[in-house]
Amino acid sequence: MSGWLGGTYEHFDVTGSTNTYLKENTHRLPHGHVVTADLQTAGKGRLGRNWLAPSGSCLALSFLLKDWPEEELSALPLLIGLAVSRAAERYAGIETAVKWSNDVLAGNRKLCGILCESIIADSRCSIVCGLGINMLQTRRELDGLSLVYATSLFLETGKKPDTDVLRQTVLAELEPLLDGFRESGFTPYLPDYKSRCVTLGKQVLLCTQGVKTLEAYAEDVAGTGELICRAGGQVVRVNAGEVSVRGIYGYV
Ligand code: BTN
Repeated sequence: MSGWLGGTYEHFDVTGSTNTYLKENTHRLPHGHVVTADLQTAGKGRLGRNWLAPSGSCLALSFLLKDWPEEELSALPLLIGLAVSRAAERYAGIETAVKWSNDVLAGNRKLCGILCESIIADSRCSIVCGLGINMLQTRRELDGLSLVYATSLFLETGKKPDTDVLRQTVLAELEPLLDGFRESGFTPYLPDYKSRCVTLGKQVLLCTQGVKTLEAYAEDVAGTGELICRAGGQVVRVNAGEVSVRGIYGYV
């Protein structure tokens, strides 16, 4: 392994958002820079949501991909979801799954969320990738934040994770996948992604800006990361940047 991911690393006790920090400092930070924080006071989730976690309870980690093709932004979060799913299994010995597009699940509850954002400066695109793995939250803490569909490694294993080892496991899983993705795209990773994807083969609700817009059958995932659905005899290709899915009876 070349070690370009996390070759430089910073940790904050408190910051607004690790993603925001990288976005604001892209110009002076190197490719592969990694930042973590015990507490984010303005943690960001997908589609404009907040990401909430008590101090030290979540591995909040962001990394910077400099000069990265913007068109790869659509499949990149799925690749990161696959890497985190593999890493959580390796680290904790639990079975995990992915919910399209990039929630990582344990026992059908959300263990990790992923947010990728692009920054264009001087016609060059950089991508900030952030992931939050729930590590130590109790059921009471998650429910208290209205995160009833979430779980943590502690809840799944009964053990308190070692943050440093978990971070290293995630980065070690991510780096070769990012190298392979840069070279050959997402297609080589589709079989593993699809085998873990609980969304496929189900009736789902497609939600735009949190509002349920369409019920559809989730049939396939494309190399672009789009979810291919069937609704009323029509094929609908759904982009992860705009739409989220819900099961018709709940989260999955
Ligand atoms: C989601 O599921 O909605 C995405 C959540 C992403 C959370 C992580 S925590 C580290 C990074 N910094 C942020 O502000 N968000 C991401």
